[in-house]
Amino acid sequence: MSKSNRAHFGTKLGVILASAGSAVGLGNIWRFPYETGNHGGAAFILTYLGCVLILGAPIMIAEFLIGRRSRANTARAYQNLAPGTQWKWVGRMGVLTGFLILGYYSVVAGWTLEYTTQSVTNSFAGQDAEGFIALFGNFVANPWRPVLWMAVFMLATHFIVVRGVERGIEKASKVMMPMLFILLLILVACAVSLPNAGKGMEFLLKPDFSKVDGSVLLGAMGQAFFSLSVGMGCLCTYASYFKPDTNLGRTAFSVAVIDTMVAILAGFIIFPAAFSVGIQPDMGPSLLFITLPNVFQQAFGGLPWLAVLLSVMFYILLALAALTSTISLHEVVTAYLHEEFSMSRRKAAWLVTGGCTFLGVFCSLSLGVGKEYTLFGMTLFDLFDFVTAKIMLPLGGFFISLFAGWYLDKRVLWEEITNRGTLKVQLYRLIVFILKFIAPIGIAFIFINELGLI
Ligand code: PFF
Repeated sequence: MSKSNRAHFGTKLGVILASAGSAVGLGNIWRFPYETGNHGGAAFILTYLGCVLILGAPIMIAEFLIGRRSRANTARAYQNLAPGTQWKWVGRMGVLTGFLILGYYSVVAGWTLEYTTQSVTNSFAGQDAEGFIALFGNFVANPWRPVLWMAVFMLATHFIVVRGVERGIEKASKVMMPMLFILLLILVACAVSLPNAGKGMEFLLKPDFSKVDGSVLLGAMGQAFFSLSVGMGCLCTYASYFKPDTNLGRTAFSVAVIDTMVAILAGFIIFPAAFSVGIQPDMGPSLLFITLPNVFQQAFGGLPWLAVLLSVMFYILLALAALTSTISLHEVVTAYLHEEFSMSRRKAAWLVTGGCTFLGVFCSLSLGVGKEYTLFGMTLFDLFDFVTAKIMLPLGGFFISLFAGWYLDKRVLWEEITNRGTLKVQLYRLIVFILKFIAPIGIAFIFINELGLI
């Protein structure tokens, strides 16, 4: 595709919503609560907020400027801006990261469809916490159902990606994001008024800094990158569809704020609810799927129709939030194949869908029939999650900050961040300083610390 006829997002709001649509997803509502639960609560959240501010948001700006400047998929972007160098490997690693994330993310996305149908048929009625734990356990251990739902989800992603940027991605995000936000607010109100919810609030609000160790730091950094969709060129690919007058700094700031708010809201639903019914906060990936049905039953037990209505709405919106994220992951790999190997978009998209479904089958089975096959003590599902979120994304972020901070001409940074001098960006110097020093040193420190070398 030539530079001039490359697709664009239609409106400013569309730009923010599509980027926020990529950022807001299972990472906020499913992954953030269980990572917070695994790492002891409030102290993790504060560390996470620090990582969003100091690492995530500035690197997001870097991704935006690389994408818009080069107007290409993430691998080509580095070739355009740094021809003849090895920087292209940063882009290629990003494409691989996206492919791997999509492989296991689509499994959890499939679970949201199962829970939607369970809600429609009101099969949660009358269950208690034990019942929900058993229900989830049986479902994931089933060799067929989770795999089928994963495949359905991949196909839905596929067809939206094939429709292209403006018609598919932008339109879908505009309606779904605000609806999800409102429903989350309603659910927070329900969860905090459950009996014993106070213990959950304490868990979220009272930090115990003696708990902050290397694994908390690595977990918080990984979660920040994962949740903001930063470190693999996803937002770089989206920014290649931005218009010249898009304000990159403000867009990054808005996306980071929206994304963080959704995660915190999810925390204020899950923990009050979990403590209320005596569910351990460190249950891992099943936490959301065990806790949430409880909220609906407990809060609306007397009004079954309302319990059904709200839970159906919640799971549909969760599935849609996941969809805007899987679309962005899929798009990274599809744009790469389409533009680099001159194959049609349709063919590229089919290759991605087929490959990720293949990975998804193994990730899904690794939680059930294949549970005993582990590598480094982790199932394939956990391994994919660990390697992508805690290693590949931060490593990508490390190189992106070095690329923007040290390799790119300062004039390029200035032109992109200030839209050729037409915007006054007060934090400009700070952003550049972070990209040059704080982000790479911070990421390196957390890695080295985790390896036990400090
Ligand atoms: N940010 C998404 C979420 O929080 O669910 C997941 C994700 C999407 C990660 C796109 C990385 C990415 F490039």
